[in-house]
Amino acid sequence: MKTKILVCRAIFPALVERLSTHFDVDYNDQDAALPAEQLAARLADKVAAITLLSDRIDAAVLARAPALKAVCNVAVGYNNFDLEALTGAGVMATNTPGVLDDTTADTVWALLLASARRVVGADKWLRAGQWQGWQFHDNWFGNDVHHATLGILGMGRIGQAVARRALGFDMRVVYHNRHRLADDAEQACNATWVSRDELLREADFLVLLLPYSPATHHLIGASELAAMKPSAHLINVARGGIVDDDALIDALQQRRIAGAGLDVFENEPALDGRFLTLDNAVLTPHIGSSTYATRLGMASLAADNLVAALSGKRPPNLLNPSTFAG
Ligand code: DGY
Repeated sequence: MKTKILVCRAIFPALVERLSTHFDVDYNDQDAALPAEQLAARLADKVAAITLLSDRIDAAVLARAPALKAVCNVAVGYNNFDLEALTGAGVMATNTPGVLDDTTADTVWALLLASARRVVGADKWLRAGQWQGWQFHDNWFGNDVHHATLGILGMGRIGQAVARRALGFDMRVVYHNRHRLADDAEQACNATWVSRDELLREADFLVLLLPYSPATHHLIGASELAAMKPSAHLINVARGGIVDDDALIDALQQRRIAGAGLDVFENEPALDGRFLTLDNAVLTPHIGSSTYATRLGMASLAADNLVAALSGKRPPNLLNPSTFAG
């Protein structure tokens, strides 16, 4: 009899086929999260699961799934996991780092450039038939990106990929991270470590690339926004909740900062309706890693992690090593 696994949400059919050669797959083929009760019920007799960032795996779910050995997230972020509870229950947890770095870094730049040069507002204005002729003086002035200061909060792999792209814009790059990069890594992206206060003060473009956790909840709130330059732009492709959206909306409404490029929100998809009224915010629906090739790469890596975990091999992206018996 094949081992039972759950694929919690629609992924790529070819991968489900691949998994089906090894396992008895219970597949939610809808691209919508299972409601919490259904998720717990369908997981109850499973040995492993492919999960998405919308699938909360916590102590209550684990208590109902005694056979569970591995949960393999199709995302680099894993704030949908209660990692402590998983580790306590001896369940391996994995994520998909690396395969989405460049695509997510590209998204940062798309938002940064769109926000700086007011691309979305200008596009809407043109489509609305308001363009009466080329103007010189009052012509959708934006902010220069070249030679500006790029500030990166959270300098992991994606942060470094964002920084490397800044070389082409002749920017000064400063970053803040709990751990300072090694000298050669700093040199490769021409980045200088600064304190968090200095980062907030100096960045013309502040890019957030931190994981979300209780420690990073509302890390950017009213006082941090007040410390930024009035001409600065905030770019968030990390997670909603790192920014206090209420404080950000207020800062954008009052023009205490110039603009924002946002791919993630608190309570998404039910974002605060006031965002929709802001002409100095560019908004996208959590598409940071969203190219076909990258999403396929992420799902394949999650499947590799699951296959390894159930074949007694150490999964390549194990988050809680103490759960691996070896
Ligand atoms: C991630 O991987 O954490 C992204 O947010 C989902 O693409």
